[in-house]
Amino acid sequence: MLAMFAVPPSEITLLPDQVHVWRAALQPTQAALTRMSGLLSADEQARADRFYFQKDRDRFTLARGILRCILGQYLQVLPQTLQFSYGSTGKPALSHPPNAVHFNVSHSGQLALYAVSLRSVGIDVEQINLDRPILEIAQRFFSVTEQQELAMLPPNLQPIGFFNGWTRKEALLKAIGTGLSLPLDQFSVSLSPHHPPKLLETAWDRAAINQWSIRSVDVGQGYAAAVVAAGTDWQWSGWQFRWEDPELNND
Ligand SMILES: CC(C)(COP(=O)(O)OP(=O)(O)OC[C@H]1O[C@@H](n2cnc3c(N)ncnc32)[C@H](O)[C@@H]1OP(=O)(O)O)[C@@H](O)C(=O)NCCC(=O)NCCS
Repeated sequence: MLAMFAVPPSEITLLPDQVHVWRAALQPTQAALTRMSGLLSADEQARADRFYFQKDRDRFTLARGILRCILGQYLQVLPQTLQFSYGSTGKPALSHPPNAVHFNVSHSGQLALYAVSLRSVGIDVEQINLDRPILEIAQRFFSVTEQQELAMLPPNLQPIGFFNGWTRKEALLKAIGTGLSLPLDQFSVSLSPHHPPKLLETAWDRAAINQWSIRSVDVGQGYAAAVVAAGTDWQWSGWQFRWEDPELNND
């Protein structure tokens, strides 16, 4: 499968059966930082200032600024006028304008992904790190079903299997909004690269496997990513965030 992230049109239409996935490179140039920092609210600026490391401060500033640009384009408002509220475990949502669109954000390395939809969504991207003790991590956090599926893969496919599983699980928890406060072994996803992404079972509700569905997002070599949205009747399409695009930077 090719990584498909198209140049966005100047006017974006979001239909009920769509999930839009935006890919952005987090380039911490001074110009980008100045531009994005100027879009942040006072509480976001304060949060940026609390990061100990400059790289974390820059990443938050860029990722949050880009989020504002993307959402501003859907809602046809200036990015700096958007207001966010936060769920009990930190999931951001739009509070102004209210009930406009659902979104979720993930970053890894210098890549950020954004999911935007009219339904609840969660997204996760991870850089594939071959040095991680994946079988030990799986033993600690994955369900028994997932551990068995991982163990049955040939060793060369185990890293992609592990990161498929991890991103699918995190994307589901982010869609539900609990984040990692809901234990990861309370549900199972498929993870083999030979099988389509699927929520297989949950410990909390038999019906849940039909309430959410998972899609893989191919963002390019070296990364695994997944998006989860409510229901089954949706498709995702990819847009590339472009720094030079004046419509996106309509401040
Ligand atoms: C949400 C969470 C899974 C993020 O994981 P991660 O791999 O470190 O980070 P990602 O880059 O994929 O995602 C981060 C983004 O997810 C979003 N997010 C934060 N909390 C979220 C939640 N509960 N649900 C969905 N999305 C959330 C934010 O937009 C965040 O980006 P930001 O900090 O720039 O605003 C993880 O931080 C978590 O579980 N948080 C909840 C903490 C919690 O439950 N604490 C209670 C005690 S256990």
